[in-house]
Amino acid sequence: MSTDSRRRGPGRTKGERRPAADLEEAWEGLTREIQGCRRCPLGSTRTQAVVYRGSLTPRVVFVGEAPGAAEDRAGIPFVGRSGRRLDAAIARIGLTARDFGVLNVLKCRPPGNRFDRAAARTCRPFLDRQLDLLRAPILVTLGASALRAVDPSAPAMLAASGHPRVLGRRSLFPLIHPAAALRSRRLAERWSHDVDALRAWLPRADKLL
Ligand code: URA
Repeated sequence: MSTDSRRRGPGRTKGERRPAADLEEAWEGLTREIQGCRRCPLGSTRTQAVVYRGSLTPRVVFVGEAPGAAEDRAGIPFVGRSGRRLDAAIARIGLTARDFGVLNVLKCRPPGNRFDRAAARTCRPFLDRQLDLLRAPILVTLGASALRAVDPSAPAMLAASGHPRVLGRRSLFPLIHPAAALRSRRLAERWSHDVDALRAWLPRADKLL
């Protein structure tokens, strides 16, 4: 038996999904670990860790930066103002509940909502393990810090936004952060333009992998 097939378990071929019960158990275990994490100082300032919302078999995972105040209270990513803007974009793109998921690079709210790079390094294994379990072929980063964390070699945010990139065996589609789109008319227009570019690109995306 090859090392690969041992890792997947007997009878599973390359690319085949792990059984739902295995996936759910592994996901619940990881969720409990994240919720109990105290590996960095944000573990003692948060109200609760913010892990994920969405399908466990998504085609697209949206990767935000860090929970804000509303998310810290709810324990769910993107439930505040920028979440409403993100959900409107997801509806516009035509993704249904089983197609997508939403998470953040940082699982705990940083004080003052300032992205904390040291905490992001500590938190990184959680993001990697989430993405390994979800196995989405497409990642959409939201904002410069998420882009930098997922693809350090990407160009600056405004040059990257709206243009798909190859990221190992996945595709990456960077977008500006939905909160930025709330700040100025120019960025609101850029957000709408790049969301439309994502909508146009998605039907072709799988063929590129
Ligand atoms: N901004 C983010 O990056 N993530 C959230 O969950 C909310 C706001």
